[in-house]
Amino acid sequence: MADTVKLEIGGKASEYPVLSGTVGPDVIDIRKLYGATGAFTYDPGFTSTASCQSALTYIDGDQGILLHRGYPIDQLAEQSSFMEVSYLLLNGELPGKKELEDFTYTISRHTMLHEQLATFYRGFRRDAHPMAIMCGVVGALSAFYHDSTDINDPKQRMIASHRLIAKMPTIAAMAYKYSVGQPFLYPKNDLSYTANFLRMTFGVPAEEYEPDPVIVSAMDKIFILHADHEQNASTSTVRLAGSSGANPFACIAAGIACLWGPAHGGANEAALNMLREIGTPDRIPEYIARAKNKDDPFRLMGFGHRVYKNFDPRAKVLGKAATEVLDKLGINDPVLDTARELEQIALKDQYFIDKKLYPNVDFYSGVILSAIGFPTTMFTVLFALARTVGWVAQWNEMISDPEQKIGRPRQLYNGPAQRDYVPVGQR
Ligand code: ACO
Repeated sequence: MADTVKLEIGGKASEYPVLSGTVGPDVIDIRKLYGATGAFTYDPGFTSTASCQSALTYIDGDQGILLHRGYPIDQLAEQSSFMEVSYLLLNGELPGKKELEDFTYTISRHTMLHEQLATFYRGFRRDAHPMAIMCGVVGALSAFYHDSTDINDPKQRMIASHRLIAKMPTIAAMAYKYSVGQPFLYPKNDLSYTANFLRMTFGVPAEEYEPDPVIVSAMDKIFILHADHEQNASTSTVRLAGSSGANPFACIAAGIACLWGPAHGGANEAALNMLREIGTPDRIPEYIARAKNKDDPFRLMGFGHRVYKNFDPRAKVLGKAATEVLDKLGINDPVLDTARELEQIALKDQYFIDKKLYPNVDFYSGVILSAIGFPTTMFTVLFALARTVGWVAQWNEMISDPEQKIGRPRQLYNGPAQRDYVPVGQR
C-alpha cells in the first residue's frame, strides 16, 4: 500500500498516513478524519478497525498462525510451561533460568486470598454459575488490595498483575468447591501453578492429593493455549474499562463478564453440550443440516472464528492432546468419536468450505476438561483463569502506551431528530 491514502468527501480532499506493523495488514491512520471531514467511520463489531498498537500477540487468520511475542503457539504448547508463557507475555522475552525461578516464586507467594473473601462466597446460592461467582469475587478484589492500585506506578501495576495471575486459580477452585459443598483448600506453594490448582479443585482435606503428571501437563497446555489472543471481545473489554483509569481488578471482572457469552468463552461449554446432545456419529447429518438451515438459529458450536478463516492452530494442538489424555486415562468417551467424525464431515461440506468454518479452540477443549473431571460450567472459568495473563499484559501495555486515550466510539444516530417536549396530558 502507498504511504498515504486520499479521501474525498463533498469535494474536499484529505490525506491519511498508512502505518505498517512488523507483519500483518497495514492500517490507515484515520485519527484526524473527523477533524478534517466532519465524518466518522462505521464499523460495527470492529471488523476493519485496529483499536490500538500491540506487541504481544499476532494472528494470521488466513494461514492459521498464532504467535506470542513472535513465538508460534504450537512450540510454546509443546515445549514451554504456563509460567514461562506468562512471563513472556508480561515482560516481552522468554525468561532465563533464574528469572523463571524468581517469577514462579513470586506468583506462588500471592496465591492466598484475603480470609474475608471466603465469607463472600457464602453469599452466593450453591447452584450459582461459577462464572457469576468469578465476576463477583474478582471485582471484589478491588476492595482488598489498595496498595496495588495506583495504575500510574509501573511497580504497582506489576504487583496487581502478579496478584491476579496468582489468585485466579484459588478463586476458580473455590468457586468449584462451593458448588459441590466441599471445604475450600488453601494453596500449597511447593506445587507447580497448575498442580496447585488441580489440588485445590479436586483434593480434599481428608487425604493427600497426588497430582497426575499426565493431567497436569494437559491442563498446563490448555492454559498456554488460552493465555492471550490479541484484541478479542474480552480483551477489548478489559482495555476499554481500563482506558478510563479504572481499578485493575474491576477491569478484569469486566473481561470475565464478556468472556462468559456463548459466542466467546462460553462456547467450550456449549460445544461439549452439543456433542453430548448429538450423542452418536449417526446423528451428525441432522445437526449439519440444522447448522446450514437459515431459518434455524442453531450453529455448530466450536466451529468458526472471527479471525481464523483456516484451522485454529490451538484446535490442532488440542485435537492431539484429547486423544493422548483419553488414552492415558483409559477413558473411552463416545463424545471424542462424535467430535472427530463431525470435524471430518464438516470439513468436506461445501457450506463450511465456502464460509471457511473450521474447528476452533473450543471444539476439543471440552472433551479434555470433561475427561479430567470438570463439570461443563467450569470450562469458561478455566478459560478466564488462563486468559487473565493476557488481560493483565494487554492492560499494562495500554496504560504504558503514550498514545492511550479513553476508549470512546462514535455512532451513526438513527433516532428522532430534535423535537419539543409535550406535557403528558396533551399527548
Ligand atoms: N455454524 C454454522 N454456521 C456458521 C457458524 C457455525 N458455527 N459460524 C458462522 N456461521 C455462518 C453464519 O451463519 C454466517 O452465514 P451467512 O454469511 O450466510 O449469514 C457466516 O458463517 C459468517 O458468520 P458470522 O457470525 O457473521 O461470523 P463472525 O465472524 O461474526 O462470527 C463466531 C464468529 C461468533 C465465532 C461464529 O463463527 C460462531 O457463532 N461460532 C460458534 C460459536 C463458537 O464456537 N465461538 C467460539 C469462538 S472462539 C473463542 O471465543 C475462543
